[in-house]
Amino acid sequence: MADVALKGVTRSFGDKRAVDGLDLHIADGEFVVLLGPTGAGKTTTLRLIAGLEKPDAGTVEIGGRPMNGESAAGRDVAFVFQQYSLYPHLTVYENLAFPLRSPARRMDKASLDARVRQVAKMVRIDHKLENRSTRLSGGEMQRVAIGRALVRRPSIYLMDEPLSSLDAKLRGELRLELKRIQKELGATLLYVTHDQIEAMTMADRIGILAEGRLVQIGTPREIYANPANLHVAARLGQPHINLMPADLLPGVAAPAGTRTIGARTEHLEISRARQGSAGLGPDGNAEVDWIEHLGDQNHLHIKVGGHKLVTLADPDLPVEAGDRISVRLKQPLYFGGDGQRLA
Ligand SMILES: Nc1ncnc2c1ncn2[C@@H]1O[C@H](COP(=O)(O)OP(=O)(O)O)[C@@H](O)[C@H]1O
Ligand SMILES: [Mg+2]
Repeated sequence: MADVALKGVTRSFGDKRAVDGLDLHIADGEFVVLLGPTGAGKTTTLRLIAGLEKPDAGTVEIGGRPMNGESAAGRDVAFVFQQYSLYPHLTVYENLAFPLRSPARRMDKASLDARVRQVAKMVRIDHKLENRSTRLSGGEMQRVAIGRALVRRPSIYLMDEPLSSLDAKLRGELRLELKRIQKELGATLLYVTHDQIEAMTMADRIGILAEGRLVQIGTPREIYANPANLHVAARLGQPHINLMPADLLPGVAAPAGTRTIGARTEHLEISRARQGSAGLGPDGNAEVDWIEHLGDQNHLHIKVGGHKLVTLADPDLPVEAGDRISVRLKQPLYFGGDGQRLA
């Protein structure tokens, strides 16, 4: 495999800067996930690396080689598109073999067969090799589409939200498999998604993309625990991070300049208010608005002053809607007036 470097890559469509001065280095064998909402520039970034789009400025290097003059075919990348596009008239076997049949490869029959079967096993579709690709479930089709990228040994794999059309259970399974396969192959992989769980579970590093710019890049842990600003903080965490004025809750000494406090579940300490302390003093400063039961956990919706907070709670926490509770902050995140994180 190879490393990939983007330096100041910019691409506009009309007045719209789809990708705006993007600097990004993906190390050899690294799994990088770009996380961003629709329109953030994810697909355009992949297309620029693949050579399907030309940058207005900046360079793309693969394995240290500048790619500016290189055609898509000459770039040695494998692309898995958001909408799987299999050859419907071909079997699973032939779909997987297709990328290996190009005359330029001159692969002998035995090694081609061995490669197809190895990859089919990897993506767990080896029991359906003789099926027409139209006779597969959505999850199976996407396995074939991923397998078709994997039969080649390109410099880099590019994957554009490949799991987004699948149901939750399959997404969960394929997430794990993709991570396992990437490790096994030592593959360099750039994966883009709007799904924070995919980013958190698969990435060696997550890049947060907003309006064509890389806002922050780091390990999932770093991005989650040390977001550079409000935008990044809001991208990760379920339930969504609670944003509140600095003086809403006790338990902190906010640094000078704090405009907003960000509190995730782990930053909120919840306890039942003392009997008879209804609404008075630091005990009983909040009220349970309602409880959403998720099975193994509950979402606790809380009212404090005019604000609403949501936090995860143990289903055994003995509270119900209408109860007074006490909520304190515990090492939350502080943000200034410009939305940047304060130390
Ligand atoms: N071929 C195109 N023509 C015009 N605008 C485009 C084209 N491709 C992308 N864009 C615009 O560029 C922005 C980024 O698009 P895209 O890279 O597809 O984002 P994402 O994949 O993150 O949803 C969007 O505003 C989109 O409308
Ligand atoms: Mg896209």
